[in-house]
Amino acid sequence: MKNTKNLCFSFILLLLCHPSFLLASNETLLNCGGATQTSDTDGRQWTSDIHSTFAPMADNTLTSPALTQDPSVPQVPFMTARIFHSMFTYIFPVASGRNFVRLYFYPSSYAGLSASAAVFSVTTGPYTLLRNFSVSETTQALNYAFIVKEFSVSVVGSSLLNITFTPSPKLSNSYAFVNGIEIVSMPDIYATTATLVGQSTPFVVANSTALEKVSRLNVGGSDISPTGDTGLFRSWSDDFPYIFSAANGVAISAPSNMTIEYPPGFPNYVAPVHVYSTARSMGPTDYVNHNYNLTWVFQIDSGFYYLVRLHFCEIQPLFTKINQRVFNIFINNQTAVDGADVVGWAGGNGIPVYKDYVAYVPEGNGQQDLWVELHPNVESLSSWYDAILNGLEIFKVNDSTGNLAGPNPIPVPKQEVINPTAINPVSGSENSKNHTAIIIGGILGGIAAVSCLIFLLVFRHHRQGKHSSSSYGPPGWLPLSLYGYSNSTGSGKTHTTSVMQLVQAEVEEV
Ligand SMILES: *[C@@H]1O[C@H](CO)[C@@H](O)[C@H](O)[C@H]1NC(C)=O
Ligand SMILES: *[C@@H]1O[C@H](CO)[C@@H](O)[C@H](O)[C@H]1NC(C)=O
Ligand SMILES: *[C@@H]1O[C@H](CO)[C@@H](O)[C@H](O)[C@H]1NC(C)=O
Ligand SMILES: *[C@@H]1O[C@H](CO)[C@@H](O)[C@H](O)[C@H]1NC(C)=O
Ligand SMILES: *[C@@H]1O[C@H](CO)[C@@H](O)[C@H](O)[C@H]1NC(C)=O
Ligand SMILES: *[C@@H]1O[C@H](CO)[C@@H](O)[C@H](O)[C@H]1NC(C)=O
Ligand SMILES: *[C@@H]1O[C@H](CO)[C@@H](O)[C@H](O)[C@H]1NC(C)=O
Ligand SMILES: *[C@@H]1O[C@H](CO)[C@@H](O)[C@H](O)[C@H]1NC(C)=O
Repeated sequence: MKNTKNLCFSFILLLLCHPSFLLASNETLLNCGGATQTSDTDGRQWTSDIHSTFAPMADNTLTSPALTQDPSVPQVPFMTARIFHSMFTYIFPVASGRNFVRLYFYPSSYAGLSASAAVFSVTTGPYTLLRNFSVSETTQALNYAFIVKEFSVSVVGSSLLNITFTPSPKLSNSYAFVNGIEIVSMPDIYATTATLVGQSTPFVVANSTALEKVSRLNVGGSDISPTGDTGLFRSWSDDFPYIFSAANGVAISAPSNMTIEYPPGFPNYVAPVHVYSTARSMGPTDYVNHNYNLTWVFQIDSGFYYLVRLHFCEIQPLFTKINQRVFNIFINNQTAVDGADVVGWAGGNGIPVYKDYVAYVPEGNGQQDLWVELHPNVESLSSWYDAILNGLEIFKVNDSTGNLAGPNPIPVPKQEVINPTAINPVSGSENSKNHTAIIIGGILGGIAAVSCLIFLLVFRHHRQGKHSSSSYGPPGWLPLSLYGYSNSTGSGKTHTTSVMQLVQAEVEEV
């Protein structure tokens, strides 16, 4: 019986490991100060850092539950922390190459210490990830319940990734803490030679460049949770909160009988199908489109270069030829592309393509806005005056000293507070259509999904009673803001990924 089960399971794993589904990656999830083998709301298993080989010499540190336990914030990894009164280093053995480092922080009092005294820096190798960082001040300014900071750093010529926490020396009684650490080894998908906006020389993002995620959007679609990603456990969020003004265009999705076909040499893990199968266009009316810019605005730190990766895929069946939909792309009011044509770039309809741009945001007062704007290219005399965007990623690039840290954000009194419930109905309904499209998107996909469902149903039936991870928490506090550090791990509204979530949960439990 056990053997049959394993065989069946291996078969399904085999299907799932087909490149169109998952990149087999190496992930470490450390629940700092917490219990071992606990699963989060996304079904991922976390291990404790207590007596962990990743946290040697932890004798001079404390562990503590959070004093205030906000029920809308995921229990794992946020409700426990490890506290450092002096410099402390986690050591992760990794393969040489690029890694995602995700740091999870929940603002609270720990071990009787004041939340505002937690001011610290975090470094890894030659890179400063955070400096003079206050979790409580940052979350208050941005109206977040918690923060996930994501970095992508390379480990060269070594097999150790060290992450060092240091309490601020400028403040007496300062301490450092962390609730969770996630390390994911990854192929280098971000090293690139990008157009430097406003300059004739390109900008090279080397494989040694460290990046911090500012924003990662599934444009015209809905949130994608880490297990819905292509094995790199990235969170993709709905773009709606970042759209400037009421001119928000039209969210579109691929018809259910359209297959999104990744071209040869285009790694499928660059972005999941869900990103390419939804988009935002300007709308059906030429003269309206002619008179506005479809605009997204992001709050960013000044004095850094920013890598802007734009994901495109023509998904409307009407658009199959060159010069049907041609548009300009502006980044910070400067022309990045004059005459973008997605079919021209990709070679056809339903084929993904992405383009990289770098913009320099000069030194200024703390935070500034980064603008990404689309406008029809009238000179090309294209069939329609329209524009399209499927996905968008923005990363801060390390400065010449290896630093990525900016100042703590200052609360803006009249900052817009976005009500997530006003957004959900729109993306929710688009989403269910999309769900169908993806499930029947390919024969392999269909077989795998159906097998998984049957398998899970049978398997679950056998194990009833013992299983608790299927109770994904209710849609909790959804951190939304104009600043890009949100993460919707705690949100239970990602319908598109539910099959993957279930499978992931089972994979880890078997
Ligand atoms: C994951 O990383 C560890 C430590 O470097 C290594 O021993 C292991 O082989 C890796 N696994 C995979 C699947 O890459
Ligand atoms: C990084 O780039 C250098 C030179 O550009 C190359 O020699 C090296 O193999 C690359 N390393 C990785 C891990 O890709
Ligand atoms: C990481 O820390 C260990 C122990 O402190 C040290 O031996 C090693 O040299 C460090 N490695 C790097 C790359 O900083
Ligand atoms: C998809 O369906 C539409 C109508 O439902 C049809 O017009 C179109 O030809 C179909 N496309 C493909 C690629 O089958
Ligand atoms: C871009 O233009 C808008 C509207 O004129 C303005 O508000 C904004 O400050 C400009 N941004 C930059 C970076 O110059
Ligand atoms: C669109 O943005 C560009 C660059 O910021 C600007 O020059 C242009 O006036 C804008 N067009 C409209 C219609 O707002
Ligand atoms: C990023 O940091 C590395 C290491 O300090 C440095 O060599 C590189 O020049 C930095 N990149 C930029 C764009 O300054
Ligand atoms: C550290 O952060 C605090 C609070 O944001 C700020 O008042 C202070 O000036 C910062 N110190 C340094 C050295 O950046």
